[in-house]
Amino acid sequence: MISYFQHKVVWITGASSGIGKETAIQLSRITHISLILSGRNETVLKEVQGICVKNNAACSILLLDLEKTNELEEKAKEAIVLFGRVDIMIHNGGISQRSSVIETPIENHRKIMEIDYFSTIIITKTLLPHMIERGYGHIVAISSISGCFGFPLRSAYCAAKHAMYGYYESLDIELRAQGVFVTIVAPGRIQTNISLSALTKDGTPHGKMDEGQKNGMPVDICVRKMLKGIARKKHEILIGGIEVVMAHIYRKAPRVFHFLASKINPT
Ligand SMILES: NC(=O)c1ccc[n+]([C@@H]2O[C@H](COP(=O)([O-])OP(=O)(O)OC[C@H]3O[C@@H](n4cnc5c(N)ncnc54)[C@H](OP(=O)(O)O)[C@@H]3O)[C@@H](O)[C@H]2O)c1
Repeated sequence: MISYFQHKVVWITGASSGIGKETAIQLSRITHISLILSGRNETVLKEVQGICVKNNAACSILLLDLEKTNELEEKAKEAIVLFGRVDIMIHNGGISQRSSVIETPIENHRKIMEIDYFSTIIITKTLLPHMIERGYGHIVAISSISGCFGFPLRSAYCAAKHAMYGYYESLDIELRAQGVFVTIVAPGRIQTNISLSALTKDGTPHGKMDEGQKNGMPVDICVRKMLKGIARKKHEILIGGIEVVMAHIYRKAPRVFHFLASKINPT
């Protein structure tokens, strides 16, 4: 696993918290790796950078707001300049949702779509010519188990994560022969702060650590599994507990899935 990441430049969005932060820290223990850490929270990103540098990784911060999609082409160009290239792009930054279909205003759908989906394709499209020219690139799209099937109180989030599946699976089929690899990661419930920042119906953060999140898979285990799968250039990595079983049931026995889904506790 380690050798795959050596001598690579890896750009991670959402590196200030949860899966992105843990990914940066685990990767920083690998020799000859260069990291670009992105997010909005400069103070926390500097703390993560400090840990990574202590582990001997070369590490730069590139501040960005994924909602400001008109700025992202420029940010991707800046990222390439930082270490002269981007080898592995990890699209991790994102927000979730806690509101029913009926009460969710269209602005919330658009906001989640911008942050969780459109931001990633703008960055990807800017990086692709550079990767194709070099004959190598690896795009990692962190979707979700919510990108595999619908889930209550997550209509906008599920839509954005399903969109990632459609886009990145197509990209994978189009470009693998040219040396650009795509890995779609679908975590289930992982112990991070994602439920705290999830968007409620009035656009404010949910502000609560949900039970499901609290009892989810520890983030270090999730990231270890993810990095192992990326190094194997897997097309898809499903990570989690019972949620992963649900994804398999959805694909193989949809009627059973719909019966079980009616019993899901969305919090
Ligand atoms: N935890 C789970 O159970 C779970 C399950 C499935 C999928 N995922 C996916 O995993 C990814 C990481 O989530 P997490 O669980 O680690 O959540 P988290 O702890 O809340 O971290 C989210 C990260 O996204 C960044 N972010 C959010 N909005 C942003 C914006 N507008 N611009 C730039 N960065 C932004 C945050 O950085 P700043 O605040 O610094 O901007 C933060 O670093 C997300 O795509 C999520 O959908 C998580």
